[in-house]
Amino acid sequence: MTGHRQALVGDRGLGKDSDWSIVLHGGAGVAEHKDMPPEREAAFRAGMAAGLDAGVAVLAAGGPALDAIQAAVEVLEDDPLFNAGRGAAFTADGANELDAAIMDGSTLAAGAVGGVTRTRHPIALARAVMERSPHVMLVGQGADGFAASMGLEQVEPSFFFTGSRWRALEAELEALGLPVPPGAGRAGAAQPEPDDHRFGTVGAVARDSNGRLAAATSTGGMTAKRWGRVGDSPIIGAGTYAADDACACSGTGSGEYFIRLTLAREVAVLVKYKGLSLQAAVDEAIQGQLTALGGDGGVIAVGAGGEMAASSGERLVAIFKDEA
Ligand code: GLY
Repeated sequence: MTGHRQALVGDRGLGKDSDWSIVLHGGAGVAEHKDMPPEREAAFRAGMAAGLDAGVAVLAAGGPALDAIQAAVEVLEDDPLFNAGRGAAFTADGANELDAAIMDGSTLAAGAVGGVTRTRHPIALARAVMERSPHVMLVGQGADGFAASMGLEQVEPSFFFTGSRWRALEAELEALGLPVPPGAGRAGAAQPEPDDHRFGTVGAVARDSNGRLAAATSTGGMTAKRWGRVGDSPIIGAGTYAADDACACSGTGSGEYFIRLTLAREVAVLVKYKGLSLQAAVDEAIQGQLTALGGDGGVIAVGAGGEMAASSGERLVAIFKDEA
């Protein structure tokens, strides 16, 4: 793979009556952790650990994988260090447009949202789309309107603002030769996010004690994205996929390439029809197919047997709980 590192946390509970697994990705940030001030790295690790704790609490109590991954992702959406929910990347117009998806591997039910600007937890909205609407995917104002009608918390768009992401927008627009939208100066003295703007997506995959798999992904997408761009995260099969007879998979990386490869489902297909181990399927999809197409990124996955896998490589940064 070409230069991508994921920040990961994972945990597994193996007991007489329990066999659950969960893995989270938090995008970049830790990817540059050699250059990162220690206090920032500590905050990043603490954020990941908090997300993991939220998911583990559900699974350890015998709860469903869907609840676990939603709880984990909501924690990361609220943490301004991550490019999802509060702290999301900005569009070229200076807005935060949020994408998210969730999928239930036991039923193949799925829900997704794109271009959300007012819903505090896009992953909760994706779940509401799955469970409380006749549709799979809602976008823009209609999605936020549905969220409000379902009683999901609405916030002012400024809720999602962070100075560091705004600085990252300014830097990206300057590099692209595009005008900086009104709002310059809002960032104050904030340093730009050091991460590569493509890789801030968060996600979680889990298997619960009843053998049910689920996957969730949430993102602000690419810094300086334009024209209503939607990435892979809310595209079922591209950035998010789960099927109990294969695996649950969530991706982070260059969304356009994930979409073209239907990357997350490709991992599931390699497991189900080609008989690859989960790790071999992940390696084939990422180091093989994604790299060959010129894309970049990574995935996390949990298999039907509770095995955990992530795209590997010398640049991978894994922080599993016993090492965190
Ligand atoms: N993988 C996130 C995005 O491209 O939007």
